[in-house]
Amino acid sequence: MWLLILFLGVAFSYFFFEKKRPGSPPGPMIRVPIIGSAIFLGSNLVEGIAKLRKKYGDIFHLSLGSFSMVYVCDLDTLEKIGKMDEFSSRMEIERAPFKDINRWLRETGKSTNGIIGSNGDTWKEQRRFTLRHLKDFGFGKTSMDDLIIDEVKELIHDWRQTIASNEGTFHFDNTFNLSVFNCLWKIVSGKRLDITDKLEQERFRELSEMFASFGATGFIMMIAFNLPTCMAKKIPLLDKIKGFHTRTFQWFREEYEKHKQTCDPGNPRDLIDAFVIERNRAEEEMDVNSSFYGKEGDLNYINTLFDLFIAGSETTSTTLLWSVVFIMNFPEAFERARLEIDEVVGRSRLPSIHDRPNMPYFEALMSEIMRMGNVAPIGVVHSVEKAVQLDEFRLQQDTIVHFCLTEVLSDPKYFPNPEQFKPERFLETDPSGKLTYKPHRALIYFGLGKRECLGKALAKMELFLFLAAIVQNFDFEPAPGVPGINDCTVAITRLPIPFDAKVIARK
Ligand code: HEM
Repeated sequence: MWLLILFLGVAFSYFFFEKKRPGSPPGPMIRVPIIGSAIFLGSNLVEGIAKLRKKYGDIFHLSLGSFSMVYVCDLDTLEKIGKMDEFSSRMEIERAPFKDINRWLRETGKSTNGIIGSNGDTWKEQRRFTLRHLKDFGFGKTSMDDLIIDEVKELIHDWRQTIASNEGTFHFDNTFNLSVFNCLWKIVSGKRLDITDKLEQERFRELSEMFASFGATGFIMMIAFNLPTCMAKKIPLLDKIKGFHTRTFQWFREEYEKHKQTCDPGNPRDLIDAFVIERNRAEEEMDVNSSFYGKEGDLNYINTLFDLFIAGSETTSTTLLWSVVFIMNFPEAFERARLEIDEVVGRSRLPSIHDRPNMPYFEALMSEIMRMGNVAPIGVVHSVEKAVQLDEFRLQQDTIVHFCLTEVLSDPKYFPNPEQFKPERFLETDPSGKLTYKPHRALIYFGLGKRECLGKALAKMELFLFLAAIVQNFDFEPAPGVPGINDCTVAITRLPIPFDAKVIARK
């Protein structure tokens, strides 16, 4: 009997108590099998982190299966670690329990390929190459103004037609994805997708579904990643995600083949041409250390394009979706923005990037939408490649580090009354009495440090040009069920629940 009690006691403490490592940050001591102490996050990641921060402080620890996770919630520490190489890695897949699943899902090679998930020389080379060549084609520069405005025009045209045909009741869901992606796709592939094409719309619906399926803080995936590969592959959700990856990679490989046949090495037309040229060079020179060489070169190409595809459409489109929610919840702020647009731009042309410096209120409004819309609450997870000291804490190798962006974006220390929608917090009056936009160091919406968002400049241009044109041209009437500013699902991104609204073209 005593032996049984002893056995149960040992089993209980093994399964239900955290095995804390010396120097580990504080966190809950109780855990449940498989999910670990991450159960304390609850179903809403943002609220869960806020609650645990209150209890355990700015840096706390949770476990999830075999993963050890640390959450960093204060700006000073994030600014410090964002600059450190030790905190700029992603999880090293070769040492992760799910390396085979990851290989199967994303067709990765020696390690993770592309930009978002890669490390070391591959990451540096792919990130630098992509940024440099995208910039050659105008990425984030004022010369992209016309290209984005063309997409804005298409969207406005499409909306006006829909208004004429159904009295203007719109279902807002993946409304902006295709238009936003086109701005990037044109400089990546030289092409645009038809925003009214049902098959293309389906592609983006699947992408959004994939983001949402990481819901409940990605538990399903994390649990799946802790199962043996043969079992994990049988999970229908993973199978669906695999199908999505396969189709998307196929699309990118076809584009590559088409580009290869028409590419002029002296005159690259777009990013895919630049890839063709660099991969040919690596092959001809037998540059085996290059991330463009051989099979790895192919995997880096498809994964880099996949990263641009997933990162470059969903976040910006979701921010625009939040903008419509904010327009309906705070009509006075948008009325003021519209007056500014009417004064600076007028009604005879669309807003251009050159108007931006003259529209401080609109700029402040965008910042407040980004702060409160908060579409990437923990950005992309980081990991430490080697054991490292973080203040008084010791983080073991492969600890996952979450940059808790929401905690900074809603910190009253930086944004008094953070729950209030107040564009004025980003405004000041200069000595001559002129209203000016005041940037804020805590607006870390795009992450910070070495892994800061690669698409920041483009995303800001897109947000400005699309939103300013929408405010200039349309009014919105909420239909029943329009979400409040906290009605959302929280997964990798924070998404407003899909809603209907009446859109009215301004006379
Ligand atoms: C409003 C729109 C956007 C938001 C809020 C956003 C936010 C973020 C955040 C928080 C990160 C993670 C930073 C970190 O790891 O600490 C990130 C990474 C990244 N973003 Fe964005 N992003 C946006 C738009 C874009 C666009 C338009 C592109 C493509 C052109 C893009 C490409 C990337 C890439 C490639 C990374 C990975 C960077 C790396 O690992 O080195 N993003 N983004």
